[in-house]
Amino acid sequence: MDMLSHPAGAGLRVLVLGGGGFIGRHAVGALLAHGLTVEVGSRHPSRLGRRLPPEASACGRRQVHFEDLLTPDAWLHALHGVDVVVNCVGILRQRGRETYQRVHHLAPAALAEACRRSGQRLVHVSALGLQAPMRSGFLRSKADGEQALRRSGANCCIVRPSLLDAERGGYGAAWIRRVARWPVHALPADATGLIAALDVRDLGEALAGLAQRARLDDAGQPAEFELGGGQAMSLRDYLSALRALHSPRPALPVQVPGWLARLASHACDLLHVTPFSFGHWELLRRDNLPMHNDLPLLLGRAPRPVACLAPTSALPAAGVQPQRA
Ligand SMILES: NC(=O)c1ccc[n+]([C@@H]2O[C@H](COP(=O)([O-])OP(=O)(O)OC[C@H]3O[C@@H](n4cnc5c(N)ncnc54)[C@H](OP(=O)(O)O)[C@@H]3O)[C@@H](O)[C@H]2O)c1
Repeated sequence: MDMLSHPAGAGLRVLVLGGGGFIGRHAVGALLAHGLTVEVGSRHPSRLGRRLPPEASACGRRQVHFEDLLTPDAWLHALHGVDVVVNCVGILRQRGRETYQRVHHLAPAALAEACRRSGQRLVHVSALGLQAPMRSGFLRSKADGEQALRRSGANCCIVRPSLLDAERGGYGAAWIRRVARWPVHALPADATGLIAALDVRDLGEALAGLAQRARLDDAGQPAEFELGGGQAMSLRDYLSALRALHSPRPALPVQVPGWLARLASHACDLLHVTPFSFGHWELLRRDNLPMHNDLPLLLGRAPRPVACLAPTSALPAAGVQPQRA
């Protein structure tokens, strides 16, 4: 079955969970641009305000607290009247009842079962790098969530983007841009993995396309899509390229010993400061690249080059071109 050849978008009502977040609001914008009816899920619908694109001001809003939505029945109210659900919810750090397991695993598992029962389609945003052995509870909960979706039998797909870039917004993207401006770039010595940054607007468009199409693969399993931009590079080179947007002088690279970087990541987790976490320290040590880059296929065009990189003419559909320093 050609997963991409059955557009069925007209008249669809799509609930975007985490629709006020970095990825979610770009999905909302893209879905609206396709002419679909969008509902935005948030813990605090009345506070969404300017977190949503202006064209989304008239969208319906639904209150969702993942930590309370741990059974399929608990989802009934939130899913009422909806054809498709796009799940863009994620937490960087646990707070009280908002644990990694509840938010990334148990609530999506219950959501998938609720969708299976009522025939609603589900598009689930996950992350790359969950296959390797991992110690971080953040990463393990995301892997558990994916596994639950695979077992659910729901008509769903899993989308794994690499690092996201944007000119504005995004806690991680904004922080990386700020750090890139500094004259000294301190990076873990073992942060040797490659990334394939992609523009968050492309991810929003890809999610809007997936929301409108059939998703199960031939074996009845969720289709899984790995997405990246057109170039693979180390975080160090990525930071250098971002810095070059603002200064002709390269930053001084400083290598932080791996053990110290790991310690710092635990401290950041403890104090809830910066987007650097133990999970990210683990991710940086291996490549964060799509096995097969599905983004050109989903977009039907080459991905936008991220702002700091020269436009690329060759944007491969199969994987991305590694460029190790
Ligand atoms: N950013 C990246 O570069 C990147 C790359 C790959 C994968 N991802 C993954 O994509 C997901 C979203 O990332 P993002 O950058 O868009 O994050 P984000 O901007 O922090 O958005 C996350 C959204 O989750 C919602 N949320 C958080 N806790 C919730 C809860 N307990 N119940 C219901 N909703 C809750 C928040 O909505 P309200 O505040 O409105 O309630 C927020 O809008 C995460 O799982 C992340 O790991 C991100």
